[in-house]
Amino acid sequence: METVDWSKLSFTYMKTDYNVRCYWRNGQWGELEVSSSEYIPIHMAATCLHYGQDAFEGLKAFRGKDGRIRIFRLDENAKRMQSSADCILMQRVPEELFKAAVLKAVKMNERFVPPYESGASLYIRPLLIGTGARIGVNPADEYLFVVFVMPVGPYFKNGFKPSNVVIMRQFDRAAPLGTGHVKVGGNYAASLRSGQLAHDQGYAAVLYLDAKEKKYLDECGPANFFLIKGNKYVTPASGSILPSITNKSIQQIAADLGLEVDRRRITVEEMAGFDEAGECGTAAVISPVGRIDDPETGKQYVFSKDGEAGPVCRKLYDTLRGIQYGDLPDKFGWITYLDEAE
Ligand code: PLP
Ligand code: COI
Repeated sequence: METVDWSKLSFTYMKTDYNVRCYWRNGQWGELEVSSSEYIPIHMAATCLHYGQDAFEGLKAFRGKDGRIRIFRLDENAKRMQSSADCILMQRVPEELFKAAVLKAVKMNERFVPPYESGASLYIRPLLIGTGARIGVNPADEYLFVVFVMPVGPYFKNGFKPSNVVIMRQFDRAAPLGTGHVKVGGNYAASLRSGQLAHDQGYAAVLYLDAKEKKYLDECGPANFFLIKGNKYVTPASGSILPSITNKSIQQIAADLGLEVDRRRITVEEMAGFDEAGECGTAAVISPVGRIDDPETGKQYVFSKDGEAGPVCRKLYDTLRGIQYGDLPDKFGWITYLDEAE
């Protein structure tokens, strides 16, 4: 059996022992199946291949100091996958089926949940695709739901050190009345080219603006965006950003810590008045932003001069991680314990 060097993990694909699958055929979901194959046989006319019937989720399991495995906000991810399915006319995965599949996938790959000391986690990727054959632009009559997992380290190579991001007005990720608010594959296809360009120029991600007016902040690569000023946590309100479960959690933590939380439209120029900035998401956790460049206007928004995260980002990060790894009490009821769910 191969061994994993937990300390060297980054956010990359790794084969684990099993994945869990379920098919929707003839108007109903079948039984959960366990597979050790990384491949799915698929009809060449499947709607996921041609017409983008594809949604996914991302959540994590953490091993605590006590050895127990904790899954963060399982219910929220189950619900969000349903809203993604509704948006692109796919069959909904019932919440109980979603939870059972995730728990089974984690349990079957328990040996891949990184040890507490490593600071790594098990990334869980549920995927829902239209597998029925269609040539006209129509929803499929068959769906496949798969859950696979892998151990991961930090998404951004800087980890908790601030990284820089860039505004690119020549690209949009999602249209105002499009699919940005759900987690469907097409949104990520639309972000690949700008993301690549940003990486080539040395940036960690693109900070997208609202596609209509190019005036307001949307989100940042595969993560939500937030700003801090004094005692205030401010995050963009927009119909085209993904409602991040991490952001929602951080807002609750921030309020609990006595910060004022504000979700509103934020103009680009307003960023000049803020002390700290960050990205947040399951993969990104909280990644502080050091500087934001706006090459078209020549403006730079600097949030870290010494290459370190600001104090509020640090406090939010420590609290979130503390809850996820079980170092702090689960006071909001966000954790599903694998051993209790069996
Ligand atoms: N925004 C986008 C586009 C994402 O892909 C993600 C990742 O899931 C997020 C935000 C963060 O969402 P969450 O915190 O639920 O992982
Ligand atoms: C996540 O944070 O779970 C994501 O989905 C981000 C990205 C890897 C797509």
